[in-house]
Amino acid sequence: MTNAPALDQRPMTEEADHLKINSIDHIEIWVGNAKQAMYWWWKGFGFTPVAYSGLETGNRRYASYVLESGKIRLVVSAPYKPTDEMAVHHLLHGDGVKVMALGVDDVGESFQATVSRGATAAWQPREQSDEYGTIRTAAIKTYGETLHVFVDRSDYKGPFMPGYQKLDYSADSAGLVAVDHIVGNVELGKMNYWVNFYHHVMGFRQLLSFDDKDISTEYSALMSKVMANGNGRVKFPINEPADGKKKSQIEEYLDYYMTPGVQHLALSTGDIIGTVRELKARGIEFLRVPQAYYDILPERIAHVGVKEDLKAIEELGILVDYDDEGYLLQIFSRPLQDRPTMFIEVIERHGSRGFGKGNFKALFEALENEQAKRGNL
Ligand code: FE2
Repeated sequence: MTNAPALDQRPMTEEADHLKINSIDHIEIWVGNAKQAMYWWWKGFGFTPVAYSGLETGNRRYASYVLESGKIRLVVSAPYKPTDEMAVHHLLHGDGVKVMALGVDDVGESFQATVSRGATAAWQPREQSDEYGTIRTAAIKTYGETLHVFVDRSDYKGPFMPGYQKLDYSADSAGLVAVDHIVGNVELGKMNYWVNFYHHVMGFRQLLSFDDKDISTEYSALMSKVMANGNGRVKFPINEPADGKKKSQIEEYLDYYMTPGVQHLALSTGDIIGTVRELKARGIEFLRVPQAYYDILPERIAHVGVKEDLKAIEELGILVDYDDEGYLLQIFSRPLQDRPTMFIEVIERHGSRGFGKGNFKALFEALENEQAKRGNL
């Protein structure tokens, strides 16, 4: 069941922006095996493991690793006991994002501002301290089982949070530097509900919207609206399925995740050719669009001034899109776990603030190929 507090349904205005978000503090993924998930992000994606919590640190409940690449901080956690809430979550949903944590100056004020506007509380403002200082957090619910945790670490100097110890690992970075956007899939008919949530409760504004005329192929269709916070650093597109001839990719996700949740994390790089070459060499698998995409690409982007080598773009299967402000390069991984649920996008922007609308058709055809192989089309 989705969390569905009664929300303010007044039309969207530009007034909002009451929540001052500094950054995406971290993304926590609840998994079946934290040690192996850590290895995957470390050796596959080039993240550096920086902190650990588990039996050896006095944590009797779960094992948890914190990894960083550039400004991206990921946490992978798994429970020790089958009766733990985390075990139930994993049984139902498989591996998936549990927390999108937001760095704020004032946790109490952020919690108050959102709960008073209709958010459901997950936990009240609290402080945790150790020899490195004090960290303040509070949490509210968003779509599905997912939480937004507000974090103020200005008085904390430790590796992550109380209960975590520093790890001394080195990693070969693949060049991933920041979270560009995080996309959520919600149920049919619920996109506008969550758009309203991000606007009225979180103070976000709508940047863009895509409907089924933009995003439909023979089979699959979806609707999407992109919500962004006031300073534009946090972008959360929200997808819902739209009617198509057969099962849409969003429905497939919902069937396997069994609740709304995070569909993909878009991670930015300053050198997508180098990053994708490196990730592929380490065994990370990406979707490949039909060759026809590359047959017409030089002509399609002739006036755009793409600096990167088109041969390398084609060889690696990178996609190109552009708008009035510039262009972007992007590529999508296969699902990161057994269930066809979460995946990763790698993105490099050169001016464009879009999301690759010009690639949707080719991309969705490639996705439908994969859905067909899974018997889910
Ligand atoms: Fe994306």
